[in-house]
Amino acid sequence: MLFNKKVFFCIVFIMAINLNAKSLFFPLEEPKNINKEVATLGKELFFDPILSKNNDISCFSCHSNYGADNKSFSIGTNNKIGKINSPSVFNLEKNIAYFWNGRAETLEKQLHGPLFDPSEMASSKELIEERLKNSQKYKELFNVAFKSEPSFANTLKAIAEYEKTLVTLNSKFDKHLRGEVALNESEQKGLNLFISYGCASCHNGLNLGGNSFQKFGAVITPDEFDNEIWADRFAFTNDIEDKEVYKVPSLRNVEKTAPYFHSGNVVLLKTAIYMMAYHNVGVILKEDEVQYIEDFLKTLTGEIPETFKKEQ
Ligand code: HEC
Ligand code: HEC
Repeated sequence: MLFNKKVFFCIVFIMAINLNAKSLFFPLEEPKNINKEVATLGKELFFDPILSKNNDISCFSCHSNYGADNKSFSIGTNNKIGKINSPSVFNLEKNIAYFWNGRAETLEKQLHGPLFDPSEMASSKELIEERLKNSQKYKELFNVAFKSEPSFANTLKAIAEYEKTLVTLNSKFDKHLRGEVALNESEQKGLNLFISYGCASCHNGLNLGGNSFQKFGAVITPDEFDNEIWADRFAFTNDIEDKEVYKVPSLRNVEKTAPYFHSGNVVLLKTAIYMMAYHNVGVILKEDEVQYIEDFLKTLTGEIPETFKKEQ
């Protein structure tokens, strides 16, 4: 279908009432209720290739640059190339679900994917437990965190706890939402366009995305898809309405996480903005409008979380 009515009316609604930024977006906050010992263990595991079958890659191998990598497709164990772009591991906690098609409901369940996938870490529960039980360092860290021997279940808990610490605070936009700084003229124009064209009907809330599933091609279907429908939400739900539907990606730090889209086939942020406007709101943007929106999106870059720095 060329035209998705539900999305169209949603966009018209947003345009009509001209919502202001403070009711659509919220600043990120310091993560709360983190169990420090558990997160410290999780950090150690995140950076350690010990979890991969051949001891050659860690989570950080594919989630390094602002929590993503700058490749269209990541490289897994034995140099195997993946089939979908690696999203960032920053600002995950409030997401509706995980993976591009949302097939994991929790951060712990998500971990089965990379750990077991033959083209990612190709590991197994037994192998991970055996390796960690044979490591003096991990025996001690699990003991501090859980008062127990290393186990697979607690490995998942620890990494998930660590992931909750990865929040990119104090972007210019968040400071603006808190009333601390003004946007410059071009950024403000970009924000106004982002709202008035209806980008914010999908990219809204705490993370300007991450909170709903939507079609790529909501208004104008792109021609070139269809060999890759295995990666969409349809592949998971089998509901025909879910063809070409993905979790709306967060736009936080988006200037830092090229290439774009699940396919990783768009290198420039300007191209991604232009394509989104065309396919998802049915608007052909002028060059200066693309520039304003890009300037606004750049205000979404926050600080790299302290806990993401290797040496600490
Ligand atoms: C070989 C590269 C690779 C490795 C290693 C890897 N990932 Fe990923 N990660 C990906 C790709 C690609 C996706 C997207 C897969 C999909 O959506 O189908 C992803 C998705 C994710 C997501 C979902 C993000 C979201 O927005 O839904 C999280 C969380 C994540 N990975 C965490 C981890 C952790 C923790 C580890 C280590 C245990 C890890 N990854 C190891 C490539 C990798
Ligand atoms: C109908 C919902 C919807 C609307 C409206 C929408 N988007 Fe998106 N946006 C998405 C989805 C879904 C994706 C992921 C598509 C994919 O990867 O195949 C996405 C991806 C993006 C990306 C790439 C992010 C990344 O990390 O790969 C950018 C940038 C973006 N949108 C900006 C915009 C802008 C700017 C507008 C307004 C002109 C807009 N979007 C309107 C749903 C929407």
